[in-house]
Amino acid sequence: MGMTIRKGSWNKGPDLAFAINKRVADAKRKYGQDAVINACLGTLADDDGNIIALASVYKRLDEMDRKVIASYAPIEGEEDYRRLVVESLFGSYKPKAYISAISTPGGTGAIRSAIFSYVDRGDPVVCHDYYWSPYKKICEEFERDFKTYEFFDKAYRFNIEAFKNEVNKNLKNKDRLAVLINSPGNNPSGYSLSDDEWDLLIGFLREKARDKAKRITLIVDVAYIEFAGDGDEQKRFFEKFTDLPDNLMVVVCYSMSKSHTAYGLRSGAAIGISSSKENIEEFEASISLTARCNWSNGTHAAQRILIDLEREENKGEYLKELEDIRLMLEQRADEFVRRAKDKSLTMIPYFGGFFTFVPTDRAFEISESLEGENIFTIPSDKGIRVAICSVSLDKIPHLVSRLAYYVNKTCKNF
Ligand SMILES: Cc1ncc(COP(=O)(O)O)c(C=O)c1O
Repeated sequence: MGMTIRKGSWNKGPDLAFAINKRVADAKRKYGQDAVINACLGTLADDDGNIIALASVYKRLDEMDRKVIASYAPIEGEEDYRRLVVESLFGSYKPKAYISAISTPGGTGAIRSAIFSYVDRGDPVVCHDYYWSPYKKICEEFERDFKTYEFFDKAYRFNIEAFKNEVNKNLKNKDRLAVLINSPGNNPSGYSLSDDEWDLLIGFLREKARDKAKRITLIVDVAYIEFAGDGDEQKRFFEKFTDLPDNLMVVVCYSMSKSHTAYGLRSGAAIGISSSKENIEEFEASISLTARCNWSNGTHAAQRILIDLEREENKGEYLKELEDIRLMLEQRADEFVRRAKDKSLTMIPYFGGFFTFVPTDRAFEISESLEGENIFTIPSDKGIRVAICSVSLDKIPHLVSRLAYYVNKTCKNF
């Protein structure tokens, strides 16, 4: 006899990535670290396989007054945290609009609050078909209608026509709709929308918002933005959220997990952007209330760390460390792409983020074979996700070679 209500028990089985990661730990114990390639979990590891915890970040925690760590943060987040998240995230590409940030536990908190507040039961949430699996689970929990379209056309470019069709189809009988985009550095594909693709997407949503009966919300998950290009070119698209119609709202979901190697500190923010002051006041009230009803307040220590790191005298130290890990990841990605080309292994064009992606309809079979060789990846219906964030540079050639062997199914060349 099940005791939980139906909604409490629809979720069968453990999270795939965490389940596979447990097998990685077993393999490491049995065969040793060097014999194992762990390309499954999305945390950045150094070349010895240890999780990276930036010294500039954790020194602040070590030195923080325990009374601050122990204390509650304001429900909406510390004033300075909210301001600095906006300044540091947008940089020189801050849109001209009313903008406000409310703290959340990681990007996950921001995503679930945006989905909860901006679409109602049965309303569509339109997302690309390569997506981080909690999106769908959040929609299921809240009874939002999660819909997908083909992210890529045949040349592996953003499939704007598929996007338009899906939005059109869902707006026909509904007045509220959310679009969920994870770019730059999409998980799992590594894809980033180009500025031209953003123009097409926003141009289309503007057109749809001409019907004033419609309320459209664009939710943008930027969890990997600091690992999606050097300099800040990858942030230019933020400027395009200037002068939007007042029935087209944007919520950017910010996370400290990757940018500050602070996965366990659980800190992020939902950032509302609108040409209407009233919309932003409503955003603040709604996202704060939903915080109060769920987690109450964010992690105070994490907010203070960010505030401290943004000070002029500390910022250089943090940015230098961030650049070092960004470069480390870039080298791994470049090596992966080069080797894949050599081995004629098809992959989605990589622009950033923690993962590369090899499309195949035999992903489960192949990842099982790879596991037999102590190479751990994440299979899905669309292909194999490879967490290059946790694979050392020297292991990439072997990883690509074995992937190519199974995907291309020709032993001769390998
Ligand atoms: C695409 C994507 N969005 C959001 C998150 C949220 O991370 P967090 O809640 O730790 O900020 C993750 C974490 O893996 C992710 O991959």
